[in-house]
Amino acid sequence: MKRPHVTINCAMSVDGKIASPTRKQMRISSEEDIQRMYRLRNESDAVLVGIGTILADDPKLTVKESYVQHPKQPLRVILDSKGRTPPHALALNTVSKTLIITAKGQKKTYDGPHIEVVECTTDTDGVIDVNYALDLLYQKGVRNLLVEGGGTVIWKFLKNKVVDDIFIFIGSCIIGGKDTPTVADGEGIRKGEEIPLKIVEVKQVGSGVLIHYQSL
Ligand SMILES: NC(=O)c1ccc[n+]([C@@H]2O[C@H](COP(=O)([O-])OP(=O)(O)OC[C@H]3O[C@@H](n4cnc5c(N)ncnc54)[C@H](OP(=O)(O)O)[C@@H]3O)[C@@H](O)[C@H]2O)c1
Repeated sequence: MKRPHVTINCAMSVDGKIASPTRKQMRISSEEDIQRMYRLRNESDAVLVGIGTILADDPKLTVKESYVQHPKQPLRVILDSKGRTPPHALALNTVSKTLIITAKGQKKTYDGPHIEVVECTTDTDGVIDVNYALDLLYQKGVRNLLVEGGGTVIWKFLKNKVVDDIFIFIGSCIIGGKDTPTVADGEGIRKGEEIPLKIVEVKQVGSGVLIHYQSL
């Protein structure tokens, strides 16, 4: 199966957390890393998140003109099996196009030609089948996909072994909390099934460290 090149980008604390203990968005990235993230978004054909991130953070998922001149605005993709994307979600604004992928029979209608809802096969956990979604995105011309989270979605992409590059920014802070979202949540691996990665580059970016990994 042909699929887009998949890059994960995520900012975490030193203890691996990606949000506050109440699951709210936190500023973990340095200013320099935010600039890098916007450039990466701008170079991507599409940026993908799960409905958990939409409901928790209400992100726009666009490229800010203050960071990138003449942004080309990637397609925004939301994995949303049960059709829970609120009509007022900022990721549905008219700055770019949005594709909502739902399970069969869960399709909702939204105002505006820039919003498309597509029904898709689910996996054994009842969420959108990642391979099916990647096939759909490839057919729609997406060649570079940026997966931004949250932890449940990142886990599913890693588990399905459909990740090429991973950029992890480690902010110089601790967040703590045993239920605080981490880079990879979900059920985790079974013994002996660790997901191996190789380091491509490590560098300081402002007040934190950026590590570029690739899947082995
Ligand atoms: N620091 C960062 O870089 C960063 C970036 C993004 C998000 N975050 C944080 O991450 C947290 C949200 O993470 P989350 O794990 O709760 O939510 P999430 O990963 O954004 O979304 C998970 C939900 O997406 C739906 N889904 C549909 N298809 C899926 C699939 N194939 N795989 C996984 N999920 C699928 C499921 O809900 P349905 O069953 O309803 O479809 C699932 O519960 C927030 O606290 C946010 O602030 C941090």
